Amino acid sequence: MNAPHKPKTFHVKSFGCQMNVYDGERMAELMAAQGMTATDDANAADLVVLNTCHIREKATEKVYSDIGRLRKHGNDPMIAVAGCVAQAEGEEIVRRAKVDVVVGPQAYHNLPELVSKAARGESALDTDMPLASKFGALPARRRVAPGAFLTVQEGCDKFCTYCVVPYTRGAEVSRPFDAIVDEAKALVDAGAREITLLGQNVNAWDDEAGTGLHGLIAALDKIPDLARIRYTTSHPNDMRDGLIRAHAEVEKLMPFLHLPVQAGSDRVLKAMNRSHTRDSYLKILDRVRAARPDIALSGDFIVGFPHETEAEFAETLSLVDAVGYAQCFSFKYSPRPGTPAADMTDGFIPGEVMDDRLQRLQAALNRDQAAFNAATLGKTCQVLIERKGKLPGQMLGKSPWLQSVHLMTDAAIGDLVEVEIVRADPNSLAGVAI
Ligand code: 5AD
Ligand code: SF4
Repeated sequence: MNAPHKPKTFHVKSFGCQMNVYDGERMAELMAAQGMTATDDANAADLVVLNTCHIREKATEKVYSDIGRLRKHGNDPMIAVAGCVAQAEGEEIVRRAKVDVVVGPQAYHNLPELVSKAARGESALDTDMPLASKFGALPARRRVAPGAFLTVQEGCDKFCTYCVVPYTRGAEVSRPFDAIVDEAKALVDAGAREITLLGQNVNAWDDEAGTGLHGLIAALDKIPDLARIRYTTSHPNDMRDGLIRAHAEVEKLMPFLHLPVQAGSDRVLKAMNRSHTRDSYLKILDRVRAARPDIALSGDFIVGFPHETEAEFAETLSLVDAVGYAQCFSFKYSPRPGTPAADMTDGFIPGEVMDDRLQRLQAALNRDQAAFNAATLGKTCQVLIERKGKLPGQMLGKSPWLQSVHLMTDAAIGDLVEVEIVRADPNSLAGVAI
């Protein structure tokens, strides 16, 4: 709390989703534009920005233990808490952890000003959700990795009963078409070969002309040096025909779809306010597979939602069997303060039951992931080289289906290499350049 001087070095640490990774990059660009220097070592920085996640309890607790650790081992840094914990807890963080700056996800363009305020010893808290876009106030993109993120949509109006996002990120807002296309071009000029369009409900992206996400993808398809397009994360109800068709028609659109379902029982889906059913979800996947037969499917699951019975959980397992996912995320239900499900205390599932369900679900998902990887054995595909591997001459990259592939090659980061898959492990593939 005693950071009377303006910081010269900074470190940004992002927790949680890919949108936080994107926000973290943009905050780093903001600080650099102020003349501050980035450092990889949080303990050596004058300013540490913790870009937090509030989606589950553990994520929140991590922030407080990180603050404790920084105070003990760090350079007596100025501490800024950004992200969804900042939005949800506001003043409470200042009280509990005595941090210098608190800035919500819709206000981080004001970070330099807040840091200056804190350096003058003034209170620096901004959790406003202004209608004017923060994006216009951010500096231009300069140097980026071959796989870059681009936030096109933020917030959520779906109000699933377990989820804090509608409260921390606010209402669904789409960035304007031209701003996105311009940023995509800047990313490609700065070295991106693949762009992942991000949004809490990215497939709800739209503009006044009704362009829809598929129209945006069609525009990005025309950027000559952009090789790959992805998008995440989507809601089943926003999976429109045009987007499904794009999977058949746009070569640069990678054969991968992350479409969370959360549970396999209609009773549970209704209690979650998901507004789709098991059957309507499966029908969407059928149409996507008809458009792009080799598509890799992904999803999110919550086990132990309040009142979930063993029979209802079994419906989640049978849905997994029916789909055959390539890779998934699965979580134990975590009550989030202020959400409707957090009040369903009479239906809370005991910890050991949750653990058992999560274990069984993950065993099924791991089995399917291993099978999906095994099915790529002997196939040839393009791999986008992203970084060096552990061994000399080894490089790591991603297949079109988002699997990690390692190979020996003298190709450079950012190259696309034609590869034959020669080994398939549950979590990665090995390839030979051809
Ligand atoms: N408890 C557990 N998992 C949650 N998710 C969102 N809210 C909760 C919660 N309260 C999961 C959902 C969502 C993913 C991003 O996080 O599966 O799709
Ligand atoms: Fe949360 Fe549901 Fe919105 Fe996803 S769709 S961000 S789970 S409220």
